[in-house]
Amino acid sequence: MADPLASTPFRTTLRTTKVLQGPFHPLSITNLPSTPQSAFKTWYQEALDSDVREPHAMTLSTVDTSGYPDGRVLILKNLDSRGWHFAIKADSPKGQQLANNPRCALTFYWPGMARQIRVRGDCGVSAG
Ligand SMILES: Cc1cc2nc3c(=O)[nH]c(=O)nc-3n(C[C@H](O)[C@H](O)[C@H](O)COP(=O)(O)O)c2cc1C
Repeated sequence: MADPLASTPFRTTLRTTKVLQGPFHPLSITNLPSTPQSAFKTWYQEALDSDVREPHAMTLSTVDTSGYPDGRVLILKNLDSRGWHFAIKADSPKGQQLANNPRCALTFYWPGMARQIRVRGDCGVSAG
């Protein structure tokens, strides 16, 4: 059987692709804001100031009825005391998954800052 770890041109391509190339914007955790929302807003402004492209794009992770995770990119539409807001169709796969199981996660990745933001919780559905 072929060695799955044997070197291939694509493996070499992957291992020579650059990642986490600094310099990075320093992250201060000594003066963390009092709420996740205010922390996110501070970091979002830093992403804008660092010219991160599409910093409001995020991966929404859900779970299907078989327990398999699913994920796709969405755009963040709002952030308030209730949480992070996004717009989806109720009859879409993600809408059906959330109706069945509201547990979800959001992941933002901001290249150039070497920063990811992870949010987990229960998803509530509202019109508008
Ligand atoms: C940059 C980007 C932004 C997107 N924004 C949204 C969005 O705000 N709402 C949405 O329903 N789908 C959005 N999509 C499409 C979703 O990623 C996804 O393909 C689609 O909603 C179907 O997902 P589902 O089959 O899991 O329901 C976006 C895709 C990309 C690449």
